[in-house]
Amino acid sequence: MIVLGIESSCDETAAALVRDGREILSSVVSSQVEVHHRYGGVVPELASRKHLEAITRVVREALDAAGLGLAAVEAVAVTQGPGLIGSLLVGFSFAKALAYAGGLPWVGVNHLEGHVHALYLSGDPPEFPFVVLLVSGGHTGLYHVISPTRMQRIGQTRDDAAGEAFDKVAKMLCLGYPGGAVIDRIAREGDPAKIRFPRPYLDKEGFDFSFSGIKTAVAKYIAVNREEFKSRVTDIAAGFQEAVVEVLVYKLVRAAGARQVERVAMVGGVAANRRLRERLEAEAGREGLKVHVPPTELCGDNAAMVAAAGYHLIQSGRRGGLDADVFSRNR
Ligand code: KG4
Ligand code: ZN
Repeated sequence: MIVLGIESSCDETAAALVRDGREILSSVVSSQVEVHHRYGGVVPELASRKHLEAITRVVREALDAAGLGLAAVEAVAVTQGPGLIGSLLVGFSFAKALAYAGGLPWVGVNHLEGHVHALYLSGDPPEFPFVVLLVSGGHTGLYHVISPTRMQRIGQTRDDAAGEAFDKVAKMLCLGYPGGAVIDRIAREGDPAKIRFPRPYLDKEGFDFSFSGIKTAVAKYIAVNREEFKSRVTDIAAGFQEAVVEVLVYKLVRAAGARQVERVAMVGGVAANRRLRERLEAEAGREGLKVHVPPTELCGDNAAMVAAAGYHLIQSGRRGGLDADVFSRNR
């Protein structure tokens, strides 16, 4: 079954064609980064307008790249939430109208579950069950995945998402937006042990996260070292990144132990972080766990993951209704 996936939850307009939830026929991601860059973050009003301008072109490009016409599409999957309401409504309404006009089955997909499905689109998908760390700009959580359509939350952030902390620290260091990839890059030139920021373990035994404290610790360091901080940017970036990575890896490995699984995975924009990938490989490997991380281009927001998640929902009998609405927060 060929599923057309559509994603517009934040600042990426994306469309993809995926066969049987496994094989990407095309995947187009149109980023609005240039539009939001100068504001230092996503401006919701602008984001929805840009989605509206891009959506038809992006879907057309996805069909062209796959060498297919609309007639080849057998079902439509679209992100329903969580995300920015105005942005979600553009992709959601477009998908609904397309499905209605073509008489096609369609389904709304939870964006977070979508991220997990990026794992099945790469060469080495994990067998069930496994524990996955979802780390993105909007969410950070641990999930026990039992089947393609069943996952249980083990823990989540009580305040900022890890990606949000990366973005805010990058802003404090005048590195621009979005900051995760820049911190990843410049941290390589710094010494992660030179400036030690607190490890926000919260409760060491539990599985919830908290990243606002570490962000405040970086802000304090900058305020106290007003004169010298510009010459220490790489060390600050490396020290901050190390603290976040250590907590994420520690909790993921412990969650695998608690749920007695042999496989761990990591998805979402922050899963592209090289230090995080290195340390997870090393520490999970030491515990005898098999590690699954999607290729970098499937870590961030894309529509192939939405199509893959939608395929499994449709196979299990789920269908969207014409009165369905989007949602901003996870339920
Ligand atoms: O999954 P995603 O594309 O969008 C959301 O659903 O939020 O994640 C975007 C987040 C941003 O906060 C960005 O700074 C972060 O992922 N990110 C990274 C890296 N690449 C992107 N964070 C750390 N290291 C990276 N290499
Ligand atoms: Zn995302």
